[in-house]
Amino acid sequence: MNILIIGAGGREYSIGLALTKDENVEKLYFSPGNGATDELGENLSISDFNALADFVEANNVDLTIVGPEAPLVDGIVDVFTARGLTIFGPTAEAAQLEGSKIFMKNFLARHSVPTAKYIETDSLEAAYTFINTLEAPIVVKADGLCGGKGVIIAQSHDEAKKAAGEMLSGNSFGDAGTSIVVEEFLDGYELSVFAICDGKDYVVLPAAQDHKRLLNNDEGPNTGGMGAYAPTPLVNDDIYRKLNERVIEPTLKGMEAEGMPFTGVLFIGVMVVKGEPIILEYNVRFGDPECEEIMPLLKSPASELFYKAATGDLKNARIEFHDKYAVGVVMASKDYPYKSSPAAEIIVDDIYHEELKENAHISYAGVSRGEDGKLYATGGRVLVCVGIGDSIAEAQKRAYMLVGQVHYAGKQCRTDIAYQAL
Ligand code: AMP
Ligand code: GLY
Repeated sequence: MNILIIGAGGREYSIGLALTKDENVEKLYFSPGNGATDELGENLSISDFNALADFVEANNVDLTIVGPEAPLVDGIVDVFTARGLTIFGPTAEAAQLEGSKIFMKNFLARHSVPTAKYIETDSLEAAYTFINTLEAPIVVKADGLCGGKGVIIAQSHDEAKKAAGEMLSGNSFGDAGTSIVVEEFLDGYELSVFAICDGKDYVVLPAAQDHKRLLNNDEGPNTGGMGAYAPTPLVNDDIYRKLNERVIEPTLKGMEAEGMPFTGVLFIGVMVVKGEPIILEYNVRFGDPECEEIMPLLKSPASELFYKAATGDLKNARIEFHDKYAVGVVMASKDYPYKSSPAAEIIVDDIYHEELKENAHISYAGVSRGEDGKLYATGGRVLVCVGIGDSIAEAQKRAYMLVGQVHYAGKQCRTDIAYQAL
């Protein structure tokens, strides 16, 4: 099978890495890929969807896997499907589950999926009235895609009103904030749950926990994610069952009934409040860095999971996972997440230690290959050091051993990834 992966991050690298271990896979392409995916396959630089579809036809690509949300929201799946090509991901219409928080919240309400009490509005007056009915902290969200930055957790009523005013006036997030969601604050612990869906059937992957804050002990600003681990012991059978019955099944049935069956990754941002899973948000793609920990846990061929989901055949898939844990530590650049940092050469020590060779690896993200053939850190989140083990503690130790082998100017990482599970 020849496979094209759309995207450039550590998430796409980790999907590629899983596919290189799969004997059904012959050739991998990435578009655009990054400075390290060229070691797993061939990087392309085609951004137009029809031109990508031309490439797929001309090169006998059997399956395209879309990593990030932007091409999904922009309709890449619609273009490929209209041309009879097999692609893993939701249509533009279904991708509104992530593309519009208002669409998502209203969908959850229509199908009685548990979520925080909210209003959606473009009126400042209505926002103020609702804010007055809530207790602080209060959550204010811009409607559209804002690269994960469109959420303000206001510590007071005044701060919430100010955030709503700034979003609605277009000052904070431009057009993405011309409508907003105001919602109650949920106090609990957060999980990332991923269901691979084929429109009707689904497979739930080992649940992960992300670490969104920059600094240890979950302090500092929000980031794209500084590390994650899976499976998390914070999910038990009871929570999985509630997620299946109250969340995933009504969502798949609802999407089908509304004429937009959901195919792809349903990423469920869950807050567990007093043992009850409540939905914070949906995304329509893998989490990054969660994907980097989940992919290595997959025991059955990765191509089978994605291909069967893309062709509506998941019920005939036998998807298995290793009985192991994975911990991933994001190594970021010096000024992440505030501003970009100068390019820095990456040096990874030769690894002689058998334990590490077999149980740890790097998923490369914000890296570029220089004209000198060397790898440079050029993005905010540069790479993820992933350790695998029979326990979370063992996986964490290996991930941090690998961190010690990686060098570049200005490297920063958290030193406590997975602490909530230890
Ligand atoms: P979102 O983009 O909606 O996932 O929000 C980003 C982050 O803000 C989430 O991962 C949560 O940590 C936090 N968050 C969002 N909504 C709420 C809420 N209603 N209560 C508590 N935390 C929230
Ligand atoms: N790690 C969270 C996300 O990808 O949105």
